[in-house]
Amino acid sequence: MKTLKEADVKNKRVLVRVDFNVPLEKGRILDDSKIRAHLKTINYLTRKGARVVLMSHLGRPKGKKVKEFSLKPVAKVLEDLIKKNVTFIPEAWGSKTKAEIEKMKQGEVCLLENLRYYEGESLNDSEFAKKLSELGDIFVQDAFANCHRTHASMVGVPKLLPSYVGLLLEDELKNLDKYLKNPKKPFICVIGGAKISTKIEVLKTLMKKADVLIIGGGMANTFIEASGFDTGNSLAEAEYVDEADEIIRDAGYEGVELLLPADVIVTKKMKEGAKTKVKDISEVSKGDIIVDIGPRTVGRFAEPIKFAGTIFWNGPLGVTEIHKFAKDTTAIAKLIAESGAITIVGGGDTIAAIEKTGYSDKFTYVSTGGGATMRYIQLDGKLPGIEALG
Ligand code: 3PG
Repeated sequence: MKTLKEADVKNKRVLVRVDFNVPLEKGRILDDSKIRAHLKTINYLTRKGARVVLMSHLGRPKGKKVKEFSLKPVAKVLEDLIKKNVTFIPEAWGSKTKAEIEKMKQGEVCLLENLRYYEGESLNDSEFAKKLSELGDIFVQDAFANCHRTHASMVGVPKLLPSYVGLLLEDELKNLDKYLKNPKKPFICVIGGAKISTKIEVLKTLMKKADVLIIGGGMANTFIEASGFDTGNSLAEAEYVDEADEIIRDAGYEGVELLLPADVIVTKKMKEGAKTKVKDISEVSKGDIIVDIGPRTVGRFAEPIKFAGTIFWNGPLGVTEIHKFAKDTTAIAKLIAESGAITIVGGGDTIAAIEKTGYSDKFTYVSTGGGATMRYIQLDGKLPGIEALG
C-alpha cells in the first residue's frame, strides 16, 4: 500500500473517497466530527496544489435521489472549516461533472453528490466504478469508516487508478493495529446503538475475541425480550429474538461474560422534558418506552470496566439525542475514560454521543469507524476497502 505522501499530486485531479456520513436533521448537521477528521488530508492536498475531487455517501437512499440525503449542506460546512470555496457538483458522474472538474485550478476543492443516489455504488457495479474513475488521475482512500463496505467507490475504483492511503486512513490503521490487533486483556466490548440487526454477525465474532461483552442501547431490548421480559413500546426487533437468544447461550459456551441491563429508564413520550421512571426490566409494561440504562445497570457495567486492559466502545447506550435520556451514557463515558485501560471509541453516533459527555478527549483513541472498527476486530484488520489498495 502506498501512502499519500508518496504521490505526486501537483495539478493532478485527485479523487478522494471520504466518509461524510454525518448525522443530519432537516438539512442541519448535528455533528461535524467526521468532516473534521478528513481536514488533514484535504488541507495537505490543497497545499500541494492538487485539484481535489471529494466523493462520499450519506445515509442509505438506496439508489434514489432522496433530497434529505444530499451532500450539499456538507459542502457549506466544509467551506467554513477549510476557509476555501467548495464547489458542490450535483451529479457524481457524467460529462457535466467532468467539465466542472476540468475547470478546476490547483488547490481547488469540489464535492460530488451522494454516491448512494446511484444503485451502482452499493452493487459494486464495474461500469459505475469506471465512471467514477474517469474523474481522477489518482485515487486516495480516506474513508476508513466505510472500509467494511464492498462498494464501487471502495473496492472498484482502486483497481482502476493509482491508489494511495489518505492521512486519516493511515492514522486509523496505525492506532487500530497498535491497540486492537492484540488487545491488552481483559478485553471488554461495550456495544450499544439502536438495532441488533446491523450488528448481529459482529456480535457473534466479538464473542470469540472479548472477555466481557456489555450490551446497552436500543439493541439491548431485543436481548431483554429474548430473556423473556416485555419491552412495552420500545424499539425491539422481534425477528431477531432467536438470534439474540443464541448469542446469550453462546456466551455461556465461549466463557464470555455477557452483561445486559438489569434496570432501565422508561418514559411514555420520546421528547425532552418527558417524565421518566427507573424500572427493573421485569417491571417494564405496555406503553413504556425504554430510553436509557438504569443506575443499577451502571453499577453492574462498572465492575468489569474497572479491571479492563482494553475497552472498545461502539454505540450510545440510551437515546442520547435527547439530553434527559443521555445521563447514564455519560456515567459510562466517565467510567471508561477514568478506567486506566486502553480505551477505543468508534463510530459517528458514538462520537456525537461522547462529544456531549465532556469526556471525548479522555479516550486513548477515537476512531471515525463504528461498523468498520467492529469488522476490523472481526477480520483481524482485513477490511475489503483496505485490501483493495493492494
Ligand atoms: C458508518 O457511518 O458507519 C459508515 O459511514 C457506513 O455507513 P453504512 O452503515 O450506512 O454503510
